[in-house]
Amino acid sequence: MSTNNYLVTGGAGFIGGTLARRLSALGHSVTILDLPEKIEMAKEWLGTIECCAGNVADPATFASLPKKTWTAAFHLAAQTSARISEEKPGIDIDTNVKGAQNFCDWARKSRPGFAVFTSSMAVYGWSGDNISEDQHPKPVSVYGVTKSASEHFFRILKEDGVPTRIYRLFNVYGPGQDFFNLSQGMLSIFLAQALTKPEILVTGTFDRYRDFVYVDDVVEALMLKPEGEEWILNVGNGIPVRVGPLLDRIVKAVSAWNPDVKVRQVESHRGDVFGNYANIDRLKATGWRPAIDLEQGLLLTVPDARKALGCK
Ligand SMILES: NC(=O)c1ccc[n+]([C@@H]2O[C@H](COP(=O)([O-])OP(=O)(O)OC[C@H]3O[C@@H](n4cnc5c(N)ncnc54)[C@H](O)[C@@H]3O)[C@@H](O)[C@H]2O)c1
Repeated sequence: MSTNNYLVTGGAGFIGGTLARRLSALGHSVTILDLPEKIEMAKEWLGTIECCAGNVADPATFASLPKKTWTAAFHLAAQTSARISEEKPGIDIDTNVKGAQNFCDWARKSRPGFAVFTSSMAVYGWSGDNISEDQHPKPVSVYGVTKSASEHFFRILKEDGVPTRIYRLFNVYGPGQDFFNLSQGMLSIFLAQALTKPEILVTGTFDRYRDFVYVDDVVEALMLKPEGEEWILNVGNGIPVRVGPLLDRIVKAVSAWNPDVKVRQVESHRGDVFGNYANIDRLKATGWRPAIDLEQGLLLTVPDARKALGCK
């Protein structure tokens, strides 16, 4: 029987870990590449998944990967915290830009069956409705600039003959998310507060909106084999969800544990995006559909958040 070998950089993280476990559960051989401390933290769920500890900003990390016929390689490793991105932009440039370049240099030599890069809605910049992939990138954050720059390394990789797909992810949520990071991820920030505090503090107005997509739906998209002309695809639900209704759903989802939780509005911080949601026609043309709506997704996420946050 032939073995399918998959590489997932950032495989000890939220989306990478979900992808690695899914591929492993399908019976494939999976190797993850992540920082040593993250691999240490992931030990409890790794099972048969092979680990390589290293820094993607260092080309030696890729040189140390096992030599295999790789069915596909997914590049998810990134500095993803908005706060670190603004305070220490050099880390983003090292991890995200140099990391993407090193990955692409490795992929050019190792010739995986296909390569996948997780880019971000941040490449589009400020707010926007029904944003299609044809919209010219105009990032307004260091993180967005590094994702936009990295996309070009993947374009060159594709031109060099490695089938490649770039996915621009919108707001991904679900089990495995970092519920302690209160500077990233609107839904996880609200949910963590709803489970552990008497009130949820909301920066900015309740009219703001986001496009939330459940992590398993994202993983299904990432695993698609690149076919056809389109190679840059948005991943979202394609539906704007306003902060007000999101809070109503979260309050309902935690009502069994924190029935009296209140919501309080506080001042918005500069640079907060008002609203955006994706046009997902390209992804839908592949046959992909989001399977989990927000209500179901929240019900699936709450038990994991409670466990992670040590709720009694
Ligand atoms: N979560 C979202 O809503 C979202 C939205 C848009 C794009 N993305 C992209 O999806 C990918 C995965 O995001 P996530 O939410 O799982 O984030 P995450 O922070 O949970 O995962 C990123 C992983 O990369 C690893 N990493 C960081 N620096 C590294 C380095 N120098 N060398 C090796 N590994 C390193 C981290 O340890 C972590 O395990 C990222 O590329 C992110 O930019 C995520």
